Amino acid sequence: MNPKISTWFLKSVSHFLNLKPAPMIEGSGSVKRIANYCIINKYRKALIVTTQSLIELGLLEGFFESFKKNGLEYIVYDNVNGEPNFVLAKNILDFSKNFNPDVVVAIGGGSVLDVAKLIAAALTDPNRPLEKFVGILKVRKKLKPLIAVPTTAGTGSETSFIAVITDAQGIKRTVVSPKIIPSLAVLDGELLVSLPKTLTASTGIDALSHAVESYISTCTKKAHDFYAPTAINMIFNNLKNSYENPDNLVYRNKMLKASYLAGVSMNNEMVGYAHAFAHQLGAHYHIPHGNAIAMTLVRVLQFQLNTATKKLAELASFCGFVDEGESEQKAAEIFIKKVAELISSLNLHQTCEKLKKEDYESIIENAFYETARRYPVSRFMTHDEAVAFLDSLKEEI
Ligand SMILES: [Fe+2]
Repeated sequence: MNPKISTWFLKSVSHFLNLKPAPMIEGSGSVKRIANYCIINKYRKALIVTTQSLIELGLLEGFFESFKKNGLEYIVYDNVNGEPNFVLAKNILDFSKNFNPDVVVAIGGGSVLDVAKLIAAALTDPNRPLEKFVGILKVRKKLKPLIAVPTTAGTGSETSFIAVITDAQGIKRTVVSPKIIPSLAVLDGELLVSLPKTLTASTGIDALSHAVESYISTCTKKAHDFYAPTAINMIFNNLKNSYENPDNLVYRNKMLKASYLAGVSMNNEMVGYAHAFAHQLGAHYHIPHGNAIAMTLVRVLQFQLNTATKKLAELASFCGFVDEGESEQKAAEIFIKKVAELISSLNLHQTCEKLKKEDYESIIENAFYETARRYPVSRFMTHDEAVAFLDSLKEEI
């Protein structure tokens, strides 16, 4: 598809969609308030999808206690490891078959939240093969109520209308529908205190990329301008602190809120090349998403410096990086420099040693295809520019 036509199409869709964020409760211990939410909504039986490690760490004891105290029935599927796929989704559905839950509670990282979205869709449309939910607007029925509790601050899945599921060939497929936006997002920093530093860093940069890429997209709508700059400012003020002080709940809660706001922004204004190329680095070299974003983000911003100057300058000003009267060009450059400094302060690599020349054509073709169909970027790359971009991933910033 011609990128100019697809950009026009995306802008039109975005204008009319006007997706509402998932309702949200926040703060340390808020996971224990889910039981009250269930009582208010007359949900009596919950399917809880989570990971063994969260249970073993004892982080969900208060949550289970609150369910017991309120006489709520629940079953727990805690065998989510690695990337979500259709086999896992089928196993969870088989596990809950005779239980007939009123609500699904997903507690975990992006994988747990994404597979739970597919489960919640399949529970209300049980005769449909799971693969049929893949694609844009393929979820036909209203979801089983879904409560999303993220345990990383980055994916924004707790409020997004996208779920990524890996198919039998190992290819990542997306379920895209406003229907899969969770009924409630619960942002509880206590669940993040055991998150490894490397994950705090990479997921935090992923959240930053959602906010920055959506803000500089050509889809920006006035009504949503608030979300991205707020998220970006919060990330600059809290990510490094959260990385260095994992037990500090103030930083953890702020990063969760920032990730949620970035997810809201991404829902309405999309992302861009940093994601298109990061997905390819993930597919070719198994580089985790946040780490791949750390490699692509700054170079993608540099590529768009002259077409997104005003917006990058606005972000610099909003974050307090520049004095009044600074030129737009200089302010935009300073913002990109600050992003690069933040990434390097978190000890994330900004070069990709695994990148091979023989993979360039496949990477470029797939990244261009993804961008043309989904991302309203301010400047499209030519093939030569994409080759230069990939070459630059081998060099230090
Ligand atoms: Fe992302």
